[in-house]
Amino acid sequence: MSSQREFDEFSITEEVINTFRNCGNPRLQQVMTVLVQKLHEAVREVELTQAEWEFAIGFLTRTGQICDERRQEFILLSDTLGISMLVDAINNRAPAESTQSTVQGPFHVQATPPAELGANIDTLPGGGEPMWVDVNILDLEGRPIVGAEVDVWHSDENGFYDVQYGADAELTRRARFVTGGDGRVYFWSSLPAKYPIPDDGPVGQMLEAVGRHPFRPAHLHFWVRVAGYKPLVTHIFVRESDYLDSDAVFGVKDSLIDDFPRHAPGTAPDGRVMETPYRTLNWDFRLPRLDQLPKAA
Ligand SMILES: [Fe+2]
Repeated sequence: MSSQREFDEFSITEEVINTFRNCGNPRLQQVMTVLVQKLHEAVREVELTQAEWEFAIGFLTRTGQICDERRQEFILLSDTLGISMLVDAINNRAPAESTQSTVQGPFHVQATPPAELGANIDTLPGGGEPMWVDVNILDLEGRPIVGAEVDVWHSDENGFYDVQYGADAELTRRARFVTGGDGRVYFWSSLPAKYPIPDDGPVGQMLEAVGRHPFRPAHLHFWVRVAGYKPLVTHIFVRESDYLDSDAVFGVKDSLIDDFPRHAPGTAPDGRVMETPYRTLNWDFRLPRLDQLPKAA
């Protein structure tokens, strides 16, 4: 082993890793060791300049400073670099019949308001097409799951989430439902639109600098939680939307795309008489029980 006092651009990596040897947490030691190895490798490979190091420090500082209770720039950074989808892929290995997961994204809020089945959750309707959503929460054998908590959230017709309209903006186009004996969740809202992820901060500057657009295809978010089953965080994407092939956060999966068919004015599935065209989404979510998951290697 080399001296603790003197190291070169290669031996410094081992020196740093050696300082983790008394870490009482084996997992932390593993993570820190691999992280230092890979970061040092990257710095050596690109021969990072002092100015680039300073820029990187400034970028991360600005990324933190723009975060608040309603804006999470670090999740955006993770999403746009594919880290979120990579973590999702590693952590959501499930039987093939299960509904696939995708990123949570930065717009879920803990204070999601509860709603009654059948309600219109777009409480500040603009010009978006009305949308009837009727989904089933099922186990892998196709039986309804009772008591599942289902959070839904989506953008308006201009591609903005409620929380993007300011600190005092009313929460809307989001709700928390609980399934009854039939496992169904059904509600009215309005068709979401494609949108740019918030690109007025450091992540937007990064995307522009590397020649990428900030857009995501239109989608609805779902988060299904119920005891005894693997939680599901996913989206359903709108097939006609732009950017299905170049989602800024790499979240699209073919199995999560739906037509959201448009219907002529008339009687909607819940009996409501519609004077304008409207959309529908029917979907079966299939969740594996915890005992049906592949065993960790
Ligand atoms: Fe979203």
